[in-house]
Amino acid sequence: MGRRETILACGGAGFIGSHACVVLLLKGYDVIVLDNFANARRDVLKHISKICGRKPHLIQGDIRNRACMHDVFANYRIDAVMHFAGLKSVSESVSLPWLYYDINVHGTLNLLTAMREAEVFRLIYSSSCTVYGNAEHMPLTEDCARGFTSPYGHTKLVVEDILHEFAKADTRWAISCLRYFNPLGAHKSGTIGERQLGTPSNLMPLIVQVAAGERDFLRVYGNDYPTADGTAVRDYIHVMDLVEGHLAALVYIQENEGWHAVNLGRGKGTSVLQLIGTFETAVNRSVPWEFAPRRFGDIPVCWADPTLASRLYGWAAHRSLEQMCLDAWHWQCSYLP
Ligand SMILES: NC(=O)c1ccc[n+]([C@@H]2O[C@H](COP(=O)([O-])OP(=O)(O)OC[C@H]3O[C@@H](n4cnc5c(N)ncnc54)[C@H](O)[C@@H]3O)[C@@H](O)[C@H]2O)c1
Repeated sequence: MGRRETILACGGAGFIGSHACVVLLLKGYDVIVLDNFANARRDVLKHISKICGRKPHLIQGDIRNRACMHDVFANYRIDAVMHFAGLKSVSESVSLPWLYYDINVHGTLNLLTAMREAEVFRLIYSSSCTVYGNAEHMPLTEDCARGFTSPYGHTKLVVEDILHEFAKADTRWAISCLRYFNPLGAHKSGTIGERQLGTPSNLMPLIVQVAAGERDFLRVYGNDYPTADGTAVRDYIHVMDLVEGHLAALVYIQENEGWHAVNLGRGKGTSVLQLIGTFETAVNRSVPWEFAPRRFGDIPVCWADPTLASRLYGWAAHRSLEQMCLDAWHWQCSYLP
């Protein structure tokens, strides 16, 4: 039997990373998780191994630690990297920009240095639709102008550019920047999902907490956006669809060098109130909500044209909004801290 390929998942204990570990292990890859547990719990590894029947190898470490990143590549034979590690709150990035540049940009540069020294050139990077800034025309295609509305968005844009320059300078790099739209839901087992340590800033963790009675009501930020019901519109995608897109990208960069960016979305816009309504119907619970002023950095509308992912990777999201709600709720109900 041939050697299994080994994937280093930086930030692999987090929401998206943990689901990626599941699809990688089930597909026969070996996985090394490197995480500093700033926003993850250790027991996620146990849950991953319960789902898959085998465990990722764990390294507790920080991508900003040069010696640590060097040692990882010196001690393990790594074939490719999936880089999920970072901070992701738009509002927090406005008050703590230095931390966002330090972790998201400096940390990524450290990782790239260690990869280059070890001659590991295959990378999948967690980018975001935030790199389109406040775009006017929907749906968004990969060649739309980019911009940013927050320090968080700027870190994503800067890292995309750094990666592009690396790939231009050395043709051995094969880099896929996956521009995530809005991942929701959880693995169907209900044992891994999205749980922000501290106060969540993403919508679904707040919705499920309100439905479970952990919070009294949900704040809906902004009721005067130029949308049908006045609330912001996003392109929600099931996290399992999203991580299956990573598997397809991994296969693609095995054969194709260079840099490219691809949208991972469903191509459907849903307003905040529509999402709340779908959730209430799907799980048969009410979610009390109140309007609050718009948040700095939030944009009115954003949805993807996912055609390129289908053309390059043969991938398309197929899980419904209702499924995302059911799986997020199942995770909330079965999660035992
Ligand atoms: N969730 C979303 O809505 C979304 C949307 C677009 C892009 N992204 C990007 O996808 C990536 C993963 O997002 P997520 O939702 O899984 O977030 P998450 O916070 O659940 O996961 C990030 C993981 O990285 C770890 N981490 C943070 N700083 C680290 C450091 N310095 N060294 C090592 N590990 C570190 C955390 O402990 C956590 O386990 C992020 O880069 C995020 O910006 C997420």
